[in-house]
Amino acid sequence: MNINPNNVEIIISAVKPDQYPDTGLKEVALAGRSNVGKSSFINTMIGRKSMARISSKPGKTQTLNFFNIDEQLVFVDVPGYGYAKVSKTERERWGKMIETYITTRDNLACVIQLVDIRHNPTEDDRLMYDFLKHYEIPTIVIATKEDKIPKGKIQKHLKIIKQDLDMDPSDTLISYTALSKDKNPMIFNAIEKYLQM
Ligand code: GTP
Ligand code: MG
Repeated sequence: MNINPNNVEIIISAVKPDQYPDTGLKEVALAGRSNVGKSSFINTMIGRKSMARISSKPGKTQTLNFFNIDEQLVFVDVPGYGYAKVSKTERERWGKMIETYITTRDNLACVIQLVDIRHNPTEDDRLMYDFLKHYEIPTIVIATKEDKIPKGKIQKHLKIIKQDLDMDPSDTLISYTALSKDKNPMIFNAIEKYLQM
């Protein structure tokens, strides 16, 4: 899949289903702990530095943000989970928003779940993965921030993540860093499989 970075635009920031855009395109949604790098992932994948807003402070993304990616697919950036400093009401609101989107959206082709390659998956990571499997959503797990660990340790960390999440053999696990575009073709290939289904 070849993406023209100049043909990427935000369609809408949505909270409720009646705000979801009507593009006819398949959607790929991000999932992951707050601050894990979901918005950075989107930017690197599309080759645009600040299309999705990023921040060193967790809790940056607060709505479902739909990006039209060169008329080929839609990336949906979502708020992260597991951020304690957000009020309980806010957290529940975000949780409901994501749950509603994932369980009702017919255009959803797959979810890209980001985990931090440096750490074992958190309880929230496991709950999210189980939730996706319960609803039979194809999932690509991206172990990101690999620039922060020595190259020689990557395989060991991937093995732990696969085991801890009890990953479905049909799901793909890929190590990644938002600092490099090297793996974009590999990841777009993995996504493309689900766009045709
Ligand atoms: P929320 O919107 O709060 O859920 O966070 P997010 O998951 O969208 O994270 P975001 O992309 O905003 O990134 C959080 C921080 O991590 C920022 O300071 C990024 O620069 C940094 N970051 C993201 N990906 C990587 C990576 O692969 N390597 C390194 N070193 N830093 C990264
Ligand atoms: Mg974000």
